[in-house]
Amino acid sequence: MFATTALPLSGNKQDAYASLAQQLSGLLEGETDPIANAANMSALLYDLLPDLNWAGFYILRGKELVLGPFQGKVACVRIPIGRGVCGTAVEREASVLVPDVHAFPGHIACDSASRSELVVPLIKQGRTLGVLDLDSPSPSRFDEADREGCERLVQIFLEATDFSGHGF
Ligand code: SME
Repeated sequence: MFATTALPLSGNKQDAYASLAQQLSGLLEGETDPIANAANMSALLYDLLPDLNWAGFYILRGKELVLGPFQGKVACVRIPIGRGVCGTAVEREASVLVPDVHAFPGHIACDSASRSELVVPLIKQGRTLGVLDLDSPSPSRFDEADREGCERLVQIFLEATDFSGHGF
């Protein structure tokens, strides 16, 4: 059963991500719809991960990413593969951690408050479905522990969700 009130994170980052993973599993349990799960996951992360100004998804449609469920300020809608941090993560098929967005060539500034960013690609059974994008107003907000923790959260989302129908 999922408690509708998110539990605050405490302890070190590894412990915090272990708690988040548990809460995310509970949140997604019994639901396989991609939009519903992406929407609830973005709300959980925005609520529980400290120091974020944007948390959400871009969905791969053909050769571009299209804005999906998110929390934060309104964002740019379409990002070509290879452009920005999100499009680079799709091109590389790997997470991209950007300590200073101003130093990343081609960074797409949706919210001018963003200073650092972490993007994790959604890859299920060899198929790229989109990305999870986290932005922070603080420089160097994300480190390797965040990358590992968020990649684990994305795995939970991918395993819980059925992408065979429409949505993603
Ligand atoms: N900064 C991203 C664009 C998406 S917004 O941050 C929500 C990028 O460079 O791909």
